[in-house]
Amino acid sequence: MAEAVLVTESLSKRFGGLVAVNDVSLTVQTGDVHCVIGPNGAGKTTLLNLLSGALPPTAGQIRFGGQEVTSLPAHRRARLGIGRSFQRTNIFPEFTVYENCRLGAQAKLRSSMHFVRPAERDVGVRERAERAMELVGLTGRRQALASALSHGEQRQLEIGVMLATEPSLLLLDEPMAGMSADETTRMVALIRRLKAGHTLVLIEHDMDAVFAVADIITVMVNGAVLASGKPDEIRRSQAVQDAYLGSDDA
Ligand SMILES: Nc1ncnc2c1ncn2[C@@H]1O[C@H](COP(=O)(O)OP(=O)(O)OP(=O)(O)O)[C@@H](O)[C@H]1O
Ligand SMILES: [Mg+2]
Repeated sequence: MAEAVLVTESLSKRFGGLVAVNDVSLTVQTGDVHCVIGPNGAGKTTLLNLLSGALPPTAGQIRFGGQEVTSLPAHRRARLGIGRSFQRTNIFPEFTVYENCRLGAQAKLRSSMHFVRPAERDVGVRERAERAMELVGLTGRRQALASALSHGEQRQLEIGVMLATEPSLLLLDEPMAGMSADETTRMVALIRRLKAGHTLVLIEHDMDAVFAVADIITVMVNGAVLASGKPDEIRRSQAVQDAYLGSDDA
């Protein structure tokens, strides 16, 4: 049986009178691309914030790799292997592609490799930065300033910076947002490459992209899970069609 890397139990987040995440119990299996879809305001980003530790839940539990992490702050979860990207791009525009990846690799160093000799550390950092740059397909742009990259390349770089910290679980919030068709195609290919060696939780509105990469789809509406299953099951679900997918162009 597949092994669960991430499990939430009855996870909830309340903002005053609003229940943004409502009693969500989710199991993410190792190696899966687990997509979370749902209309605007469904609670997808809030759920990701709970998983990454950016926000504390109002109720419920989160286990990662068998360990309870519900009350661990974001940097401690990052150290355990949870990497996340943001709905808005989060890179240093005045640094080059390589420097951005290097910063990601150094962030990992601070937390876990302080016992290694400086020279070896430096090699490790460079290798991780190179590997991450290669994975996201930006090696040819290594000397370009991040600010000079296209929107699509900036999203690739953001994922590269995260990969340089060597996370095992990637939390991606709308990586295709604002992308051209070509950029989306490249991002779909990147997500498929990342599947080897990573588990992904992916929030995305682009349904073609979702159905192209998802192993499992969880549908959220009004903070709660409406349905969770294989892409075919979700596509056929009457409840999902009624509540969300609705028309042909969804
Ligand atoms: N920090 C906050 N304080 C108060 N309300 C919030 C906060 N963050 C989110 N909300 C509310 O919680 C609900 C869920 O928001 P969230 O951003 O998680 O939705 P989403 O599914 O990511 O939507 P979108 O698809 O538009 O990104 C919304 O009603 C939002 O206004
Ligand atoms: Mg969101």
